[in-house]
Amino acid sequence: MSFHQTPPDWLRRLHDGDPSGADPEVAWNLTGLLRGWREWPDAMDFLAPESPNHAWKQLETRLYAAIWGDALAGKLDILDAACGSGRMLLPLAEAGHRVVGVDACRPSLEAAARHLGELPVELHWHDVRAWQTEQRFDRILALELLCYLPEPAAAAAHLASMLRPGGVLICSVEAWPGALLADSSDLDLDALEAGLDSHILQVPGERWVRASGSGDLAAILRAAGLDVLSVEGTHYLPDGPLAGLMEPERCGEAEYADRVLDLERRLRSDPSLSALPRAWLALARRPR
Ligand SMILES: C[S@@+](CC[C@H](N)C(=O)[O-])C[C@H]1O[C@@H](n2cnc3c(N)ncnc32)[C@H](O)[C@@H]1O
Repeated sequence: MSFHQTPPDWLRRLHDGDPSGADPEVAWNLTGLLRGWREWPDAMDFLAPESPNHAWKQLETRLYAAIWGDALAGKLDILDAACGSGRMLLPLAEAGHRVVGVDACRPSLEAAARHLGELPVELHWHDVRAWQTEQRFDRILALELLCYLPEPAAAAAHLASMLRPGGVLICSVEAWPGALLADSSDLDLDALEAGLDSHILQVPGERWVRASGSGDLAAILRAAGLDVLSVEGTHYLPDGPLAGLMEPERCGEAEYADRVLDLERRLRSDPSLSALPRAWLALARRPR
């Protein structure tokens, strides 16, 4: 593992508590993440088996994998854009892919570095919108990234430019209205009113997310020059509008996790519920 730390000045300042020069939306989310690492490090470091979030996040990763199917089969050059603490880097590197991770949050990357150990993964502390490389990738993952950026189309186009012809972007975003229904506890009626107009859910200084319809996500990917292969809803139960039905302490039980995955499949294919996932997961290919 190699860890490259050449962030833009605004990002280094933000980590020192000074948000000047940062896009407010990006700064709010990163400030929230940095607080999480200070105040609940065990919950944030969910790749550690002893983390209270370990089994829950493993289950969520399986929800994604159930949709992207064999898109990550083979031995590929993969960029994980906004890799966080490395929940995808680790299994991908262990499977023999050549993997690069970029993220704006230094403590998340430090956790990823701890878990990756000697595995040959490149980590970059950077703003993925400005990060440049000569390398081209067979797959780019952008899980839960575009919805937190003020200009998602520009970011998607930048990612698309780093794909080889025929390469595939695998990305997820928070969904409208599922994200509102699932995560309204820190909102109020003013925030609801603003959200109904803009589909932006925000708590100034703490979080900012633009929730998208599946058609909005497809339009962003097409504008980036990609052919959209699929857009599917996911996360109805864990972190979704039906999260209240879950027993989080049972997520580590194989039978329970399989049951949740099966119910997710049914929710996705039920016409009256299929519009209510927490997230959309899209696959989009760069034309050859
Ligand atoms: C919800 S987390 C998702 C992390 C990871 N993709 C996953 O699914 O586990 C969002 C991630 O986006 C990263 N992020 C936000 N803005 C970014 C930017 N401009 N450049 C790089 N990473 C960014 C955050 O640091 C955070 O790790």
